[in-house]
Amino acid sequence: MHSIHSVGLVAISALVGLAQAKDIYVSPTGSGTGTSTSPYGSIQSAVNAAVAGDTIYLRAGTYKPTTNIQFKTSGTQAKPITVRSYQNEKVVIDGEGLPGTPYGLDVSLPNGERGIFHIEKANYWKFYNLELINGPYGIYARDASNNYYERLTTHDNYETGFQLQGASSNNTVIYLDSYRNRDPRKNGESADGFACKEGTGEGNVLRNARLWDNVDDGLDLFMFGSPVTLEEVYAWGNGFNRWGFSNFNGDGNGFKLGITDNPPANHVVRNCMAFANAKKGFIDNGNPGALTVERNTAWNNGDVGFNFRSSSSTLKSNIAAVNVGSAQVSLVSSVKASDNSWQGGSWSNSSFVSTDPSTLKQARLTNGRVPASDFLVPKTGAAIGATTKADV
Ligand SMILES: *[C@@H]1O[C@H](CO)[C@@H](O)[C@H](O)[C@H]1NC(C)=O
Ligand SMILES: *[C@@H]1O[C@H](CO)[C@@H](O)[C@H](O)[C@H]1NC(C)=O
Repeated sequence: MHSIHSVGLVAISALVGLAQAKDIYVSPTGSGTGTSTSPYGSIQSAVNAAVAGDTIYLRAGTYKPTTNIQFKTSGTQAKPITVRSYQNEKVVIDGEGLPGTPYGLDVSLPNGERGIFHIEKANYWKFYNLELINGPYGIYARDASNNYYERLTTHDNYETGFQLQGASSNNTVIYLDSYRNRDPRKNGESADGFACKEGTGEGNVLRNARLWDNVDDGLDLFMFGSPVTLEEVYAWGNGFNRWGFSNFNGDGNGFKLGITDNPPANHVVRNCMAFANAKKGFIDNGNPGALTVERNTAWNNGDVGFNFRSSSSTLKSNIAAVNVGSAQVSLVSSVKASDNSWQGGSWSNSSFVSTDPSTLKQARLTNGRVPASDFLVPKTGAAIGATTKADV
């Protein structure tokens, strides 16, 4: 009886596709078939072999692909496909050997070559704990929705570190560190830490990210026509010419939140910090939407803290202090401002418990978050500005 029953179950499983999700292994020194004892040597082989529900484990070391890794298939909501470092081993994917690192001045980068990971029309993927360096973009995801990216590091790429583009919805990017990305191809005009550009789609979120020392802006939402949610995002040191580019084109804003021809996009920016950027802290850049901008801090930037010239945004309980512009803020009259630092009291470095960002720059905690500190916490204890100490 028992064996007949089992045979029946196996047959039914095969018929309705209840096969066990499989684990696929890759190692920089592998040359096998993707098992734990005989891992693949190529990440692309693992991606090609994966179906909904599978997990790809990358073993420790530095991968040096000579063609970029293309994600073209999808998981499902119930069975995403996961790519992660095995037991949090240190995995680096070095794109220096790919085309476009860099192309010549003003030569355009073909779409398919963008990104060490090029994720196009691929949905329900999850990525964890990977470092992508020296590529033609680190992550480039286009027309891709319902993907989840946790604890990725994208640095020293030859374009933006992490970019979402096109028809893209419901992507979550959490615990991203993106730094020192630059674009010799355009003398610094367009490499940001994080960008969500030229597209539409609800439900995209960037949370607890650090974006620093990028050549252009920390973050850019150029021509993205739907609300993006930004929470606990820290942008500093962006827009300086650290590479000796001639005709330097870096913009140097912490958060660039649209563009004049944008469809109105009502982004939400909460508990974020912009400091020590070359130019402005937060700008709507002409976005005609109604953004919600609450509990953010712009400190010690090279121009005004908040520049909202076109939007009918709501700015509530933000701090602009010690910025070196003609004023702390520059706001059109359509902006609804309340309880912000510039609406009462005088603010200087001595208004804060600490102006030392060194804790914020340290390694992330094991839970993924940036270490908390008193950096830019007001001495008064008032519920104003951003803090690394809590969700607000
Ligand atoms: C995004 O999520 C919302 C809410 O769950 C859902 O209605 C919408 O269909 C999703 N969009 C896509 C492209 O999956
Ligand atoms: C405030 O502190 C920062 C960091 O120490 C410093 O760079 C800046 O010059 C100070 N600004 C003023 C006005 O004291």
